Amino acid sequence: MMSERGDRWLCIILVCTLSLLCTEAYDVGLTFLNSAVAKGAVCLDGSAPAYHFDKGFGAGIDNWLVFFEGGGWCNNATNCLTRRDTRLGSSKKMLTTETFSGMFHNKAKYNPDFYEWNRIKVRYCDGASFTGDVEAVDPKTKLYYRGARIFRAVVDDLLAKGMKNAKNAILAGCSAGGLTSILQCDNFRSQLPATTKVKCLSDAGFFINAKTIIGQSHIEGFYADVVRTHGSAKVLSPACLAKMSPGLCFFPQNMVQFIKTPIFLINAAYDSWQVKNILAPGVSDRKGTWRECKLDITKCSSAQLNVLQGFRLEFLKALNGFGNGNSPSRGMFINSCYSHCQTGTQETWLRNDSPLLGNTTIAKAVGDWYYERNTFQKIDCAYPCDKTCHNRVFE
Ligand SMILES: *[C@@H]1O[C@H](CO)[C@@H](O)[C@H](O)[C@H]1NC(C)=O
Ligand SMILES: *[C@@H]1O[C@H](CO)[C@@H](O)[C@H](O)[C@H]1NC(C)=O
Repeated sequence: MMSERGDRWLCIILVCTLSLLCTEAYDVGLTFLNSAVAKGAVCLDGSAPAYHFDKGFGAGIDNWLVFFEGGGWCNNATNCLTRRDTRLGSSKKMLTTETFSGMFHNKAKYNPDFYEWNRIKVRYCDGASFTGDVEAVDPKTKLYYRGARIFRAVVDDLLAKGMKNAKNAILAGCSAGGLTSILQCDNFRSQLPATTKVKCLSDAGFFINAKTIIGQSHIEGFYADVVRTHGSAKVLSPACLAKMSPGLCFFPQNMVQFIKTPIFLINAAYDSWQVKNILAPGVSDRKGTWRECKLDITKCSSAQLNVLQGFRLEFLKALNGFGNGNSPSRGMFINSCYSHCQTGTQETWLRNDSPLLGNTTIAKAVGDWYYERNTFQKIDCAYPCDKTCHNRVFE
């Protein structure tokens, strides 16, 4: 099972250990969507989906940020069973509060363009980026594969709670949730009123179909299993499915060109999750030669850095279909940091020391693009040129 739970915790602990930063975040309670259960829109264990909702105010009452949480994927019954009774498979195990910071903050100083919006963080509990829809419940494991139903039920619920009057809306997410915001972008658009200005934002959701350090195909088979197990094909891009297999259509690089709704990508070209799990997963590094390097990019040997530079070039190549002739509806902030998810933490979203690209913070690039004050399509120079990165160091 691929999970980033430990990383997230480490990050929250770090933020709060540096006590002066604690005002940069605040807690929001958990709302269970019990009405979804009757629609069969449930977590892996059959429990109700859940989200954290901080209501909009002032000029933002008709603006909605709907953000989907990440946390890897489970690709088959064995791995989904392992996940079922954790917070990534059951709302019974979720923490009842969540830290809101960065793009979720309710203070203009920390989040100038979206602080008054309705801000919703949807908990991840289906294991397939909110794409699954299998009617049958496995009698042996009692596993439900219903992520796409959760997606629809959450959006319907928010429409009923006022989003049907939305002037502005953003579908966003980080990691596996960032993939949701790419794969489900046009579906979200079609669920909202035609009068709403809808855009999508993917944070660290551009997972590429790369081979491992020993040239094996790893993520491709894994994604094919995810899609098969969860019955995800129904929500994937029809234009992509006409050309290739459902498993391949789970990769943004194969379907992003077909997205009609405006979309912005934030991603590190050396995405730390992708390096750890796509490029150098444990199965391709039996001797553990990559262990130190994966934990801390400054520990990589020059040979390993060469491999990472190759990964960056592959990443940029996979992005080729995205730019769409520099259409202003498409934005991208591709920096050269060793990181994963940069919108939900204050230090990477907007602070005096946060990452810059073209002298611009992520908060400003996204705000300018959403409100059409400016276009933004930038790719950073190669590592280690960027001194503004907050590179991740794992324990
Ligand atoms: C489930 O997936 C894992 C990881 O890809 C693999 O090691 C395992 O053999 C699979 N199990 C089954 C029963 O297919
Ligand atoms: C970068 O932006 C800051 C603040 O907007 C400005 O003061 C500074 O002159 C800019 N630097 C460059 C090199 O453009």
